[in-house]
Amino acid sequence: MTPVLLDCDPGHDDAVAMIYAAHHMNLVGVTTVFGNQSIDLVTNNALGLRQLMQRDFPVAKGAGKPLVGERIEAGVVHGKTGLDGAELPTPDRGAEDMHAVELILRTARAHRGELVLAATGALTNVALALSVEPKLREWLRGITIMGGSTGSGNVTQCAEFNIYADPEAADAVLMAGVETWLVGLDVTRRVGVGAADIARLRQGGRLARTMGDLLDFFLQSLKRVQGIDTASLHDPCALVPFIDPSLMEYRHTGVRVELAGGLTRGMTVAELRRLGNVPLGYMRPSPPANVHLAREPSPRLLPHIVQAMLDFDATLT
Ligand code: BDR
Ligand code: CA
Repeated sequence: MTPVLLDCDPGHDDAVAMIYAAHHMNLVGVTTVFGNQSIDLVTNNALGLRQLMQRDFPVAKGAGKPLVGERIEAGVVHGKTGLDGAELPTPDRGAEDMHAVELILRTARAHRGELVLAATGALTNVALALSVEPKLREWLRGITIMGGSTGSGNVTQCAEFNIYADPEAADAVLMAGVETWLVGLDVTRRVGVGAADIARLRQGGRLARTMGDLLDFFLQSLKRVQGIDTASLHDPCALVPFIDPSLMEYRHTGVRVELAGGLTRGMTVAELRRLGNVPLGYMRPSPPANVHLAREPSPRLLPHIVQAMLDFDATLT
């Protein structure tokens, strides 16, 4: 099974990503980053989720703020704790006595050439790890990210939360020269659970019932805040290329993050044109392709993620 380290800010959909990764991949570690709530709250959530999952992968706490500017948080969607809607078990073990960046480097060194680094929060830890240890580029099999949008944003008209939370870090990661997969909001919004899936989860064991309650809270928040009627499972989508590539179509193309724009800071600017083999005239050439950008989710993806939660639950005592 492919080893994966999940750098996340749990977060309802991060919780789903953690279970999806543990079910289909070898989840060898979890690192946390500020985002959906403060770094302390999201780290507690990661520890509570590990307990719920009856697993013993290491959890390490990371950055509490972006490389530049102030942190944002998404309590309006994920609640006061960052994971409102259900009580998680009390963790019987704490976080590692090391920073997230250290855990990322140690894990990548130990799984050289094999480790997938999946990032489902702000990219601060990942950018820091790449800057303190340039060899990380060679150690990783790839980086896969949930972030950005080629349609509307959810923080501003055009900027998505994980990228807007630390645009400098995000652009540095996209330009680091590691093979990178990126799935944005325009795609993940099409992978949402509704009432029927939540009811199914609520009929399962403790983990499935907890996920049902959490996703119901998430659904109600998203209805209120964004007027949408399914709870988007943004973060597990990032894992798809390493679980079942037939569940998502990707295009290899150029993507950068807008750092300067007055209206557009934090926007992912993606090359979606198809330029012919002719003189360009007024048209500017395409930037180099640096990212596999998700374009189309399969209708089989949502049931696959829900089933993973039910199947994982069934393995627990
Ligand atoms: C992203 O923002 C967070 O609130 C979610 O967990 C997800 O990673 C979606 O924009
Ligand atoms: Ca997240």
